[in-house]
Amino acid sequence: MKNIVILISGRGSNMQAIVNAGISGARVAAVIANRPDAAGLAWAAERGIATEVVDHKLYPSREAFDAALAATIDSHQPDLVVLAGFMRILTEGFTRRYEGRMLNIHPSLLPAFPGLHTHQRALEMGCKVAGCTVHFVTAELDHGPIVAQGVVTLQDDDTADSIAARVLTLEHQLYPAAVRRFVAGELALHDGKVKCGDNPAASLMSPAP
Ligand code: GRF
Repeated sequence: MKNIVILISGRGSNMQAIVNAGISGARVAAVIANRPDAAGLAWAAERGIATEVVDHKLYPSREAFDAALAATIDSHQPDLVVLAGFMRILTEGFTRRYEGRMLNIHPSLLPAFPGLHTHQRALEMGCKVAGCTVHFVTAELDHGPIVAQGVVTLQDDDTADSIAARVLTLEHQLYPAAVRRFVAGELALHDGKVKCGDNPAASLMSPAP
């Protein structure tokens, strides 16, 4: 049985999607938040999942916070660390510690639009498609090797909010699917490149018609 530790900062809808997917061969060992008021904590606790808070405001530096976070994560013996709306910039040492076993989901088609306000930026650039990306986490923010992408077509009357809603629905399918493939041993990082099993189509998703 593989242990998954999920890190959140807020509502945790991607965390919920992963828990609800009931991935065989894995258990969500803990949900950890950097904010005591992260709404997803209560949802996880109600389901009997261990929850922890490592409040970044209580640490004098990023290094001190990341050390405390790593100690908390490691106490749950993770095979996979899943960032699900975890809104902290991580130190290089932290990302190296979990190299090849830490995933993130980002609401854009990376490498376009790392960082915040991705859907507004896509609209302003006149993009015809938007989407989300699951990637292995490296030291560079929102830049690690890409595992899977979900694509939505943009319409003339789209707003940042309407795009966010469509993309989020896709995130809730794409992220559990990627975690399932990792747990099944079909997804790994070798020499900085993603190796996946014999189903490359599983790396691209668009909404059901
Ligand atoms: C998602 O859009 C995710 O792609 C981004 O932050 C948001 C988190 O939403 N990294 P939730 O907390 O999973 O509902």
